[in-house]
Amino acid sequence: MRLLILGGTADASALAKLLAGDARFEPTLSLAGRTASPATPPIPYRIGGFGGAHGLAAYLRDERIAAMIDATHPFAARISANAVKAAEATGVPLASLVRPAWARREGDRWISVPSPEAAAAALGDARRNVFLTVGRLELPAFAAAPQHRYVARVIDRPEDVPLPPDLAFIEARGPYDAEAELRLMREGGFDVIVSKNSGGAATYGKIEAARALGLPVVIIERPEKPAGQALGSPAEAMAWLETQLAARGSHAGVRSERGV
Ligand SMILES: NC(=O)c1ccc[n+]([C@@H]2O[C@H](COP(=O)([O-])OP(=O)(O)OC[C@H]3O[C@@H](n4cnc5c(N)ncnc54)[C@H](OP(=O)(O)O)[C@@H]3O)[C@@H](O)[C@H]2O)c1
Repeated sequence: MRLLILGGTADASALAKLLAGDARFEPTLSLAGRTASPATPPIPYRIGGFGGAHGLAAYLRDERIAAMIDATHPFAARISANAVKAAEATGVPLASLVRPAWARREGDRWISVPSPEAAAAALGDARRNVFLTVGRLELPAFAAAPQHRYVARVIDRPEDVPLPPDLAFIEARGPYDAEAELRLMREGGFDVIVSKNSGGAATYGKIEAARALGLPVVIIERPEKPAGQALGSPAEAMAWLETQLAARGSHAGVRSERGV
């Protein structure tokens, strides 16, 4: 059964690991191409956009894809909207890995905002020492708040975009555990952290560390994201794929009984 997995996340990598070597499936993992040197996936992969919903629909037809899993990041709303449209246009079943958002716990000092621009404004007028963990593409929003000192953690540094003047980088790739995050935040002497509400375990360590240190977190809440059938984990995605496979098998059985 030929599969397309829209990836770029720890969940997509975990699903790829579950699929690797499973002869029932022929998966392809699709990456947008945002990071310069992505970790090599354990299954066949392709890199780059499809050219909108039409392009994705054409890919599904050309490659005879029988099921699609959207395992993209909760903040990647455009590709998910395209996946829903392309699934409707082609009839290819679509399931979406939707990791739950982080919920505020006792001791969390969160300031919830709807966008990176609102996060920059929420830092206030007085100079603060800010740990930015929002991803490279959101950094230009903080050029509007040049009074702060920033340390940004990124996989790749941004190029040719406006940035705040007092900005240092930490180049790293998750997952990050709470102990290491605690050390980093203590050593950095940060006053405040800025994070997306990404959900999942891979980057939750910074939220736990901020709670332990009593630091405020400016948290960018998620955009509305269209989805196919919602699944909570890579294991659930495997179970859904097995159901799709069984359904195809029984259709094939009916067809052969009828002599079609
Ligand atoms: N946004 C985040 O905070 C974040 C964080 C971690 C990882 N990521 C990953 O980084 C990728 C890009 O994120 P984004 O926020 O820029 O997405 P986006 O705004 O939803 O997508 C923009 C365009 O990038 C292409 N694209 C996105 N994901 C793709 C994929 N998996 N395979 C092929 N093409 C893809 C599509 O181009 P076409 O229209 O040409 O097909 C899409 O229209 C996603 O795959 C996401 O899982 C994003």
